[in-house]
Amino acid sequence: MGQALPNAALRPFLAADTPMLAAIFVAAIQELTGDDYSEDQQEAWASVADNEAAFGKKLASELTLIATMQGSPVGFAALKGNDHVDMLYVHPSVAGQGVGTLLCDALEKLAGARGTKTISVDASDTAIDFFKKRGYAAQQRNSVTINGEWLANTTMKKELGGSGAQP
Ligand SMILES: CC(C)(COP(=O)(O)OP(=O)(O)OC[C@H]1O[C@@H](n2cnc3c(N)ncnc32)[C@H](O)[C@@H]1OP(=O)(O)O)[C@@H](O)C(=O)NCCC(=O)NCCS
Repeated sequence: MGQALPNAALRPFLAADTPMLAAIFVAAIQELTGDDYSEDQQEAWASVADNEAAFGKKLASELTLIATMQGSPVGFAALKGNDHVDMLYVHPSVAGQGVGTLLCDALEKLAGARGTKTISVDASDTAIDFFKKRGYAAQQRNSVTINGEWLANTTMKKELGGSGAQP
């Protein structure tokens, strides 16, 4: 389990958060994924946030939650279509302290409350063990192109038994 986070809180995304979340996205990729992806791959992945307007639009179109510590955003996660974890990024300065767990717990709870039975994620190679620990099982390996670079990820699924509304 991640450590207890006494100062951490969750709140919904607001459009004004976009620059901060873009910075967290870039820092997480640059500093946390280097063991699994080449510099060219990291650069291509991080450049998804270069177009801030498009990045903000994507965050607004999904159920995006922000984790804060002492009021400042330190990570975010986005649920797409009630059953797919589309984004999960934690600032490297607080990695390993349970922020990813806090965000994922909340997304799974929201998905369950919306009637979702099975939740999925296309996990980066960096995040595979994180999701395995949460009970996600690998289904298939994928290769996706991002800004001209091929990146591998793994589709993983978890049954959300018991987290929906009980009669
Ligand atoms: C994956 C990520 C979100 C995890 O966030 P985090 O806040 O560090 O995760 P937590 O502290 O809640 O970790 C929970 C557990 O997963 C483990 N874990 C987290 N990241 C891990 C990693 N890269 N490798 C192995 N285990 C990891 C932790 O050790 C912890 O284990 P424990 O329960 O035994 O203590 C973060 O590393 C990140 O932003 N990575 C880069 C971006 C990325 O790949 N995002 C996923 C896109 S699908």
